[in-house]
Amino acid sequence: MISVSNLSLRYGKRTLFEDVNLKFTQGNCYGVIGANGAGKSTFLKILSGEVSQTSGSVAFTPGERMAVLKQNHYEFDEFSVLETVMIGHKELYAIMKEKDAIYMKEDFTEKDGERAGELENLFAEMDGWNMESNAATMLSNLGITEDNHYKLLKELDNTQKVRVLLAQALFGNPDILLLDEPTNDLDIETIAWLENFQLR
Ligand SMILES: Nc1ncnc2c1ncn2[C@@H]1O[C@H](COP(=O)(O)OP(=O)(O)OP(=O)(O)O)[C@@H](O)[C@H]1O
Ligand SMILES: [Mg+2]
Repeated sequence: MISVSNLSLRYGKRTLFEDVNLKFTQGNCYGVIGANGAGKSTFLKILSGEVSQTSGSVAFTPGERMAVLKQNHYEFDEFSVLETVMIGHKELYAIMKEKDAIYMKEDFTEKDGERAGELENLFAEMDGWNMESNAATMLSNLGITEDNHYKLLKELDNTQKVRVLLAQALFGNPDILLLDEPTNDLDIETIAWLENFQLR
């Protein structure tokens, strides 16, 4: 659940919204509508923590994970398709990166060894060894064939890109999924796939 209490946002003299009180409850799908520039994206960014409100608060059920499909489709252009999806599982991706960085070190200390051991355990517990193949399966289910998995995201066309970003959003098994204008570049097949998608 997300509860929004007395939320206000002002940019200088301009008030985008004021004293908003809302509850988003489990199992439901909500839509935010409004004219261009009304503040829909900004509202979602407050929910995801990307933008700070002027006053009020947003509270989540503790332990719930959130994923975001952004309106900006260029952020991951320089990453490979497969890596873009893996980034969606934030904790596991961070563990993998820290682990890789330790192994790259030339002056590998005893302490590094201990940390690497801890990270290996966490990685294995979180099914890290299957992360890449799980990401590949999700991409293939979305019609992104294997010959595309090692390309850079920017090499894909827009429809494919949004599918990859959608896979990224879903990859971490989120409890809360925020989609900003998901139908931009989402074709009918992908919309149908998303409607039938069951989080594990
Ligand atoms: N950092 C900022 N500083 C000042 N004004 C901002 C800032 N970010 C957004 N705005 C303004 O806030 C308003 C709301 O923008 P936002 O992108 O949330 O609208 P939107 O409802 O998502 O619009 P669209 O339908 O075009 O996606 C716009 O007028 C925008 O110019
Ligand atoms: Mg917007």
